[in-house]
Amino acid sequence: MVTGGKIAALTLIGFSIIIAAGCVYNKKEVVQVPCTIADTVTYAVNIEPIIRNNCYGCHSTGSNIAGFTFDSYAALKIYAQSGQLYGAVSHASGYRPMPDGGSKLDDCTIATIKKWIDIGTPQN
Ligand code: HEC
Repeated sequence: MVTGGKIAALTLIGFSIIIAAGCVYNKKEVVQVPCTIADTVTYAVNIEPIIRNNCYGCHSTGSNIAGFTFDSYAALKIYAQSGQLYGAVSHASGYRPMPDGGSKLDDCTIATIKKWIDIGTPQN
């Protein structure tokens, strides 16, 4: 039996697909990689790998070119909460653009970092 609840759910799924398809289409027009920001951004699953892959080369205990490290949650949190982490990766004026000398991170990665900062930089 098809209940009212099921119809509502199917309608919602239908609209979600239309909306999602629209977003992908727009992204293609501006030649962007389709961006999938996780619903729940966590330090362990999302943030630490981003920082490890892009930043530890200069900001880790083993390779401390910059003079400060991000290879612990506590250290990264200080820069996340001061605004420097987002300022640097988004190439905002007043911050030294990061990764230093490299290409800017893609929009999805930057948005993922921003989301983690916005939810209060949890150690999750
Ligand atoms: C090639 C080396 C290198 C890489 C890779 C690198 N950094 Fe840096 N970073 C530096 C140097 C050098 C400085 C300047 C240190 C100073 O001011 O004395 C710096 C400064 C910073 C600052 C302070 C910026 C400011 O204006 O307050 C932040 C935040 C930062 N880096 C974040 C990152 C993040 C996040 C990544 C990875 C996405 C990254 N860095 C990758 C070398 C690097």
